[in-house]
Amino acid sequence: MDPDDHVCLCFHVSLRKIANFVARENPRVASQISECLGAGTGCQWCVPFLRKLHQLHADGKPMDLPVSPEEYAKRRARYRTTGTREVDEGNNGGASSGDGPPREDGSE
Ligand code: FES
Repeated sequence: MDPDDHVCLCFHVSLRKIANFVARENPRVASQISECLGAGTGCQWCVPFLRKLHQLHADGKPMDLPVSPEEYAKRRARYRTTGTREVDEGNNGGASSGDGPPREDGSE
């Protein structure tokens, strides 16, 4: 995924915006990334990917998702149709396990 590709497709939040937000704000928990233009607060497709990006930052690794924007959008379309994620989402999409909405209290 390139920096200008959107991670949160609902709110058009790019990887670059998220990376800059995380570098600047150093959020304690991944759900705080929702403060970056509402990322993750729509259909919630991107939540596991936001968690993965948060973990990469915490580990001091470059923030990237090993998936093309086309494939990412295709998977999201399936997710929105079926309400389920693919079994290999964690391996192939760079997302961590577990999904669900960011919580108000900041817990994961
Ligand atoms: S893609 Fe991020 S909330 Fe829908």
